[in-house]
Amino acid sequence: MVWHKTISLKALEKVGGTSVKVGDNVVFLSTVNGKLHAMNGVCSHAKCILGHLEHEGMNVKCICHDAEFEIESGKMVKPPYVAPNAPMDKLGLSTYPVREDKGFIEVDLP
Ligand code: FES
Repeated sequence: MVWHKTISLKALEKVGGTSVKVGDNVVFLSTVNGKLHAMNGVCSHAKCILGHLEHEGMNVKCICHDAEFEIESGKMVKPPYVAPNAPMDKLGLSTYPVREDKGFIEVDLP
């Protein structure tokens, strides 16, 4: 288990959710009702960077074609508008362990 330091909790709390670069990865971080979440920040459809929170922070929306992913599980819950029949069950994104340490968000990437 290798924890990677990212942005401060204060910065994340200001925006609710944001994509950040962690080494060679892009991770979407969010905090909703005091709970932290981290998931792959690269959309499984056409590799755009996610996005912003929707539905009171339950989902993140991709800015390119509006696909939505559940923050908690990484499941695609709304297909891209350009591919309404996309196999959503195969297009989920990985989620990662996340924690706060001394005011900063840390993620554990595989
Ligand atoms: S790249 Fe994300 S919905 Fe198309």
